[in-house]
Amino acid sequence: MLTCNVESPKMKQLTELRSRRWFADAGMRGFAHRQRMQQQGWRREDVMERPMVAIINTWSDLSPCHAHLSERAESVKKGILMAGGYPVELPAMSLGEVMVKPTTMLYRNFLAMEVEELLRSLPCDAVVLLAGCDKTTPGTLMGAFSMDIPTIFCPAGTMLNDRYVKGGVSRTVGAGTHTRMFWDEYQAGNLGSTELQHLESRMTRAPGTCNTMGTASTMTGIAEALGLTLPGASSIPAMDSAHTRMATACGERIVGMVWEDLKPSQLVTRGSFQNALAVQMALGGSTNAAVHIIAMAGRLGIELLLDDLDSMGAQVPVLANLFPSGDRLMEDFYYAGGLPALMKVIEPFLSLQERTVTGRTVAQELASVQVLDTEVIRPLDKPVSRAGALAVLRGNLAPDGAVIKPSAATERLLCHTGRALVFDCQAEMLAAIADETLDCDENTILVLRNAGPVGAPGMPEWGNLPIPKKLLKQGVRDMLRLSDARMSGTHYGTCVLHISPESAVGGPLALVRNGDVIELDVAQRRLHLQVSDTELEARRVAWSGPKPLVQRGFTRLYQQHVTQAHQGCDFDFLQGNALSPEPVIY
Ligand code: FES
Repeated sequence: MLTCNVESPKMKQLTELRSRRWFADAGMRGFAHRQRMQQQGWRREDVMERPMVAIINTWSDLSPCHAHLSERAESVKKGILMAGGYPVELPAMSLGEVMVKPTTMLYRNFLAMEVEELLRSLPCDAVVLLAGCDKTTPGTLMGAFSMDIPTIFCPAGTMLNDRYVKGGVSRTVGAGTHTRMFWDEYQAGNLGSTELQHLESRMTRAPGTCNTMGTASTMTGIAEALGLTLPGASSIPAMDSAHTRMATACGERIVGMVWEDLKPSQLVTRGSFQNALAVQMALGGSTNAAVHIIAMAGRLGIELLLDDLDSMGAQVPVLANLFPSGDRLMEDFYYAGGLPALMKVIEPFLSLQERTVTGRTVAQELASVQVLDTEVIRPLDKPVSRAGALAVLRGNLAPDGAVIKPSAATERLLCHTGRALVFDCQAEMLAAIADETLDCDENTILVLRNAGPVGAPGMPEWGNLPIPKKLLKQGVRDMLRLSDARMSGTHYGTCVLHISPESAVGGPLALVRNGDVIELDVAQRRLHLQVSDTELEARRVAWSGPKPLVQRGFTRLYQQHVTQAHQGCDFDFLQGNALSPEPVIY
């Protein structure tokens, strides 16, 4: 697993290490730097003769998906020491998806900046990133890309399956998808509060990220497809001993990468992103990836467009039989061979000469891989869904694009015309859907605006608007829903998301009124508001944007500099691959 196979690598010399600027300095500063490391019990030769490897750890007491990462950091340290490196653990913003309000997306770029600046301001020769819960994967990777030192991503791993028994029938349940499913049944009166409390204590029964194909598993899978994890790492359950061994192996391998000077800019190419897109589609991955993958590519100076995603979505069917598109969980995916097995099936869509952190090519890594359960990882001619994990829509309502996940939608709604019921904010929408006299039926199109990157702010996961309570009681479980928000990757339903430009900056979504007719035709990639251009122009003249809610701090910075969804929601001043200068040491 660990042997380096780089052809004729030009090995870095000890004197070329970045950390030498701190520790080999002949002046008073070098004296002070070495002194302070010895204060902590290290020997002079440790800092003078070993590469210093940072472990960015996104552990916290409020990040249950990362509850085990302090232990895993110890395993990474063990690997680094065994390979002759010097490990340093650096805590970073943990961004536990469920606890952070208003949304972790508000802080993805904050984490990326934190990682980049930690690595730049400290004597780090390389980095192992310990992360996994939704935004922590793109956040840490974006920071590491912008710093461009040797990098391995060590995925947190997923939580274990749970079983739900009702009426003598036992079925597998996991986090996210089933949370929404059971809550809807509770709202509809089909589930009692005692049973709900039992589920509350069981469904997330172990440390690790959500075990459906949510954003976490989508993004760690993408990290692996980009070549930034050890092969197979993203599919290992967090509580499997193989996960601990993988963490040790990350520590061991990163030291080799220091001497090979194997940096993200050399490993990750446009072809690597082609592989990432193919994996996203075959996994039935989260729509959130559309935002993150464009932002990640942007940090390496690679322009990815929504059209690139749509094109891959049209070619690669959903093959991983995982919630919400299928009916299994990540633990089953691991037993079926995990991501390498899935990549083996989609080899025709991959750029096989791309390299991974091992130094080997994707083709070499996949040479002896097999699928172990074809019910979980389907062959190309027997997919879970041919509808695709992602489609990009355009029209007068979304000039710069919007996305939908056809594989998790209701087929009859993929071509639908209906009347809009518009909500200007989340609070208004929540009050309305609880009102059992709300004027709507199953063909109504629910529209939420002011929920985009600038408007919310932070583009929260509000796009899976709840079904109105009165319709839930009538048995309705899906409706067409439109917004400039995102949706949790664990959720399902016919939800048009990421409408761009968003309403708060004057996108056409701002001009929709109750009763307007909207047409969706996913096959034609069309999203159209049946209102004349003249009328829309008149509404635009009368429109005035919402007042900014926040006047200070990070949120203000965010609203001033975040880009739109189709551009990845990165900060405008962080896009591109120009490196910042190294700090002056004096
Ligand atoms: Fe952390 Fe789902 S809440 S991965």
